[in-house]
Amino acid sequence: MEANAEVRSGSAAAGSPSVVGVLTLAPHVNAYESDIERTLITQQDIQAKLAELGERISGDYQGRDLLLVGVLKGAFVMMADLARYIRLPLEFDFMAVSSYGAATQTSGVVRILKDLDHDIEGRNVLIVEDIVDSGLTLSYLLKNLRTRRPASLEVCALMQKLDVQQVPLDIKYKAFEIPPVFVVGYGLDYGERFRNLPFVGTLKPEVYRDAVT
Ligand code: IMP
Ligand code: MG
Repeated sequence: MEANAEVRSGSAAAGSPSVVGVLTLAPHVNAYESDIERTLITQQDIQAKLAELGERISGDYQGRDLLLVGVLKGAFVMMADLARYIRLPLEFDFMAVSSYGAATQTSGVVRILKDLDHDIEGRNVLIVEDIVDSGLTLSYLLKNLRTRRPASLEVCALMQKLDVQQVPLDIKYKAFEIPPVFVVGYGLDYGERFRNLPFVGTLKPEVYRDAVT
C-alpha cells in the first residue's frame, strides 16, 4: 500500500508544506541519562525479537480470531510494536492490575484496577505482559481469565526474570530471559518514570537510595 502523498505535516512552516517522511523514534532521553547504569537489552534487539515473535504468532493464529490483552501500564509500549509485527486481523483489550505500587519488590497482592471491556468467551486470547518476576501477577490473571472460558489462552512476555519465579508458568512466547535485577524502559517504570526509553536498562543504586517512597 502506498503512503498518501496528500498527507502533510501539520508542523511544516506556512508556504512550505512537507510530506510526512519516515520518523525515527528517540534513541534515548537525555534527562534520564545520569540515572541509567547500563543498557541490558538494546532497541535493535527488542525490535528484532518482537519481529520474530510476531512471525510465529502470525503462523500460529492464521485463520483464527485473535484478541491481544495488554496488561497496563507496562505492556502498552511492547504491545504497540508487537501488534504491528503480527500480519493478521486482531483486536486489542486491556487490563490494569496493581502489584508493585512505587516500590521495587513485589507485594504478591494483585488487584484488578481496570477489567476487560469485552467478553472473552470463545475468543483466542493472547496476554501481552512486560515482565514476569515472581509470576504472581500472571498466575492470578491466567486463573481469572480462564474462568471466562476463552477458546485459548496464551502468554507473550517481553522478559522473564530467572530464578525468582514462585509459581510454575507456561509462557509460550517469550522474548528475553534476564537476571533477577530491577529494570526500566520500554514500558517499564520506576516511580512512573523511564517508560519511554526505547531500550531496557538498569538504574544506578543512588536512584533508589534518593527516592522518597
Ligand atoms: P510479578 O507478579 O512479581 O511477576 O510482577 C509482575 C509485575 O511487576 C510486572 O508486570 C511489572 O509491572 C512489575 N515488575 C516486575 N519486575 C519489574 C522490574 O524489574 N521493573 C519494573 N517493573 C517490574
Ligand atoms: Mg506488567
